[in-house]
Amino acid sequence: MPKQVRVKVPASTANLGPGFDVLGLALGIHNTLSLWVGEGECQLAVAGEGVGRVPTDASNLIFQAAFRVFDKLGEPRPVLHGRAENGIPLSSGMGSSAAATVSGLVAANALLGAPLSRQSLLGLACELEGHADNAAAALFGGLTLVAESPAGLHCLQKDVAPMQVAIALPATKLSTREARNALPAQVSHSDAVFNVGKALFVVSALQTADYEMLAWAMQDRLHEPYRLRLMPGTSAARLAALAAGAKAVAISGAGPSLAAFAPSGHSAIANAMHAAFGTAGIQSRTFVLPVDRQGVQISMSL
Ligand code: HSE
Repeated sequence: MPKQVRVKVPASTANLGPGFDVLGLALGIHNTLSLWVGEGECQLAVAGEGVGRVPTDASNLIFQAAFRVFDKLGEPRPVLHGRAENGIPLSSGMGSSAAATVSGLVAANALLGAPLSRQSLLGLACELEGHADNAAAALFGGLTLVAESPAGLHCLQKDVAPMQVAIALPATKLSTREARNALPAQVSHSDAVFNVGKALFVVSALQTADYEMLAWAMQDRLHEPYRLRLMPGTSAARLAALAAGAKAVAISGAGPSLAAFAPSGHSAIANAMHAAFGTAGIQSRTFVLPVDRQGVQISMSL
């Protein structure tokens, strides 16, 4: 067994408008986890985002994910020690929980000699997360598509044109659970057809950086209309981004962050979203991020 494993996992923006629970895009801001087998109790040292907010004992998501790998392989659970350096804001819609889950799964798998494929790890991530779109992007990088196949979850990774994404993260409290509970149990046939068509064109538009196509394709009827009601200031921030030159704006994952796409002018777009949230009395943080094309990266010390 290697002495210590280090994994670096990207943030992600899921759904991309119409691709609810299917599409994910990895973004260039990362969490890094070092994991090793120690003695005594499980203990995680946390730096960066989430300090004082996430548990540092065995109940931490990272350890729970790591244990899932040991359980799956019929190996006894060891005492794990780790160090997490988090760049991804928590509860943001930027894939922080998927990154934590993926980091635990991948690091544990590496400690055991990597017997599980990334597709298998994606299946475990989906069991833990309840959806696979963020985890797929975190694992594989670039633009990812996930669907059930007879052999389990299947993931396709598509390379995208070099691009940046402007993100605004309002200081609005919104958990993924709350945002999922807001969705109706059933949707109309016409809304489903609307989304299927648009999602296919979003994939093509991102691959070719066709922002004119993205402008009409990145629209959704399955989740955004229901979630916007929980996100004050967000409709105004979206309009401000479009007025500042964004071609398309989507709720990032389950929110509350917004992801804006444009060929240029990302800082101005981010500033416009920030100002619109400010006018609504809501503080926000902004990011201009490249797409991460690599997905999870692993290094080991023996
Ligand atoms: N597809 C998931 C959702 C992503 O929208 O609930 C959560 O980040």
